[in-house]
Amino acid sequence: MNTYLQRLAHTRLKDGFTMLDVGAGTGMVLEDWMHAVQIRPSRYVGIEPIEVHAVALAEAIDRLKITGEVDQNAYSLDHPVQGPFDLALFSHSAYWLTDAAGCIGKAVDQLSEDGVALAFLQSPIGIYNLFRLFDPLFARDDPSGPNQGFSSHELINSLRKSGYELEYEYIPSGFDLTLPFQAKHMESLNEILSFALQVEFSELTDAVQKDVIEYLRAVCTHEEGRIFWNEPTAAVQVRGLRSGQAGNA
Ligand SMILES: C[S@@+](CC[C@H](N)C(=O)[O-])C[C@H]1O[C@@H](n2cnc3c(N)ncnc32)[C@H](O)[C@@H]1O
Repeated sequence: MNTYLQRLAHTRLKDGFTMLDVGAGTGMVLEDWMHAVQIRPSRYVGIEPIEVHAVALAEAIDRLKITGEVDQNAYSLDHPVQGPFDLALFSHSAYWLTDAAGCIGKAVDQLSEDGVALAFLQSPIGIYNLFRLFDPLFARDDPSGPNQGFSSHELINSLRKSGYELEYEYIPSGFDLTLPFQAKHMESLNEILSFALQVEFSELTDAVQKDVIEYLRAVCTHEEGRIFWNEPTAAVQVRGLRSGQAGNA
């Protein structure tokens, strides 16, 4: 992701750009990026509803010495933030948004003339498939948390349907499960699978745990003694509406 952002900085942004960062987290992505490039935003708005993340984000902004603000109101179609922005970044936040495509469309509508909205999110390869396969087995009573069944595939289809001009690519990434698959590291496999399935994996029945692990072993690649779970990250860039399209329809 950082390499992708560095390329974006060199090709599309100028020093003094304005930036909206939706679901900014602790500011780690921003900080890593700023350490790798020379340009700095003249206005940065980070939207982050979780208090501890928002505090860490404010500290990151201070360390970077950029003009920035942290907005703790959850982003939605009604969020009052005002543009224009040269970059609207949604880095792994789309799964948390109600109507992610609508939210990204709203941000696109607030871009400057040459601005771009960029979403990093899971592709339909990896966790997505595991989640969708096993999700019908679980009775969920807590609707909060990320929707692991949402990927770039759904986002792209919704944005296209609303008439947005976009391009995307898959950035290679994944999990090295060589150690987690060893019995003595079961705890870390538990952690990865609890995150992937959004349930406490160790509390599932033995039969379901076995099914998940068998599935995972089968989809992983095994090369030179290493076990790898392919999980490409999608980078989706949206520039605006195709001419004649009304958007958000
Ligand atoms: C997986 S983290 C991503 C953090 C960071 N952007 C990154 O890529 O590392 C998703 C973040 O989105 C935030 N979030 C959840 N719902 C949100 C909403 N409605 N509006 C904005 N941010 C939200 C969460 O609090 C969390 O910090």
